[in-house]
Amino acid sequence: MRVSVTAQDLRAIRCDLLAIPLFVGDPSERRLPPRLAALDRELGSPVAAVLASGDFRGRPADSVLVYPPAGSSVKRILLLGMGVEAAVDAEALRRCAGSAVRRAVQLRAPSVALVVPGGRRVQPPAAAQALAEGAVLGGFRFDAYREEKADEGPADVTAIQLVFDRLASPGRARTAAARGTVLAESQNLARRLSNEPANALPPAVLAQEAQKMAKQVGLDCLVMEVPELKKRGMGGILAVGQGSSNPPRLVVLEHNARRSARAAKSRRKKASARTGRPLPTICLVGKGITFDSGGISIKPSAGMQDMKHDMSGAAAVVGALRAAALLRIPLHVVGLIAAAENLPSGTAYRPGDVVRTLSGKTIEILNTDAEGRVVLADALTYAVDEYEPEAVVDLATLTGACMIALGPWATGVFGNNDRLVERIRRAGESAGERAWPMPLLDEHREAMKSKVADLRNAAGRAAGASTAAGFLAAFVGDVPWTHLDIAGTGWTDRARPYQPIGATGVGVRLLLELLRTWKEGPRV
Ligand code: BES
Ligand code: MN
Ligand code: ZN
Repeated sequence: MRVSVTAQDLRAIRCDLLAIPLFVGDPSERRLPPRLAALDRELGSPVAAVLASGDFRGRPADSVLVYPPAGSSVKRILLLGMGVEAAVDAEALRRCAGSAVRRAVQLRAPSVALVVPGGRRVQPPAAAQALAEGAVLGGFRFDAYREEKADEGPADVTAIQLVFDRLASPGRARTAAARGTVLAESQNLARRLSNEPANALPPAVLAQEAQKMAKQVGLDCLVMEVPELKKRGMGGILAVGQGSSNPPRLVVLEHNARRSARAAKSRRKKASARTGRPLPTICLVGKGITFDSGGISIKPSAGMQDMKHDMSGAAAVVGALRAAALLRIPLHVVGLIAAAENLPSGTAYRPGDVVRTLSGKTIEILNTDAEGRVVLADALTYAVDEYEPEAVVDLATLTGACMIALGPWATGVFGNNDRLVERIRRAGESAGERAWPMPLLDEHREAMKSKVADLRNAAGRAAGASTAAGFLAAFVGDVPWTHLDIAGTGWTDRARPYQPIGATGVGVRLLLELLRTWKEGPRV
């Protein structure tokens, strides 16, 4: 979808669908903003007629489709309720653009123009970014496996114009819209990967997808297969993966702004490499269980199909690295994906097994369904040992307990550094991906100690999300680290304006906001 930014007389716009957001109080003929009134008069006043009927009052759920006479410059007009003007924020704009695009998709209207609502709270660049995000996210569909779509189904929106009233600095708004587009496309990549069924996306294919993305945007990508995992001693990933005939992988994606800048420069004039102070390194670690049956501690069959999404953390890492590269984030960002399929079989790991991890610490397996923490143990150790990062952030659909605690409304945040936890919370708030701090107490760490091994991978139902975090904490030492439990937010069974049913791609926007502001904020 092409997103463009203009400040034009509405009468000069041609499109299949013109979306007009209106606030409560706007929708009376007399109070229609002047540029809309001018357009409406030219079209024979179809909007004024709707408003005069009183059927559209500008509340958030209100929407009316209006048809101007055939041959008009705009084929359809969609009035969208925005609620009270003073309450409009970036999230309201994302929803607004998402609703407009979703409607256009249903109507098979490929070109959309959206009148940017006045509102005082959101500055034009931030508005352009939020609208671009909402539009591109709202256009997401996962229908690769449906034959029907061809003739009767919806059609893609190919272009959307964001039409401002006035623009003091159009350049800044355009840059912001481009940024929003990259973020949303990267989030859509995460959604697509998470939605892929487990038969189409075993660990090897997840790794190939990461490699393909890396090649497209110019990232380094290293994929470790079983012999390499064995050589290095990654017993956690190997144990979880050993029950499946689809072998596990560890994927490393690397974005290094300084190195890419140097590569571009040497391509231009073969300049010799300039060495400066190395950039700060941030490691992003994703749980990549391509299917979680529970293993020998098998899950009940109801709802088990959702466990194809158990690699949503990994999908977010792939999306975030894509965006970091395209937005040229001035940092060294490393993405690590621990990919495995958790199945029961004659070769599966079992309750009672003791597994030796890369860190040297041993884990007593008490429940093979607590597999996410076991694969993350190796990936976290690798991150900390190999890169000495300033911060590590992991994302994982880790516990049903977190889903029960926070529902689909917030990602749980745990960590060993309060400043980093607070920065994650803030990044989530400004990116429109809510993340809520949760306790990680010494008692939660204690609960994960075993009598047989150094740690045990399960400890009963009490504080299940926090004890899982307490387990992970053992593998990061003193390095500032947060764990994002996205079990409740990684996918949804209820559609929202810019979110269809299925994978959400949660985490991508939050992570990029964290990276964008990394050098401004308080040191962790
Ligand atoms: N992938 C699941 C967690 C999950 C469950 C995410 C439901 C989203 C929806 C994870 O691997 C798991 O099975 N966790 C267990 C841990 C327990 C055995 C200690 C859980 O939450 O029940
Ligand atoms: Mn599990
Ligand atoms: Zn799992």
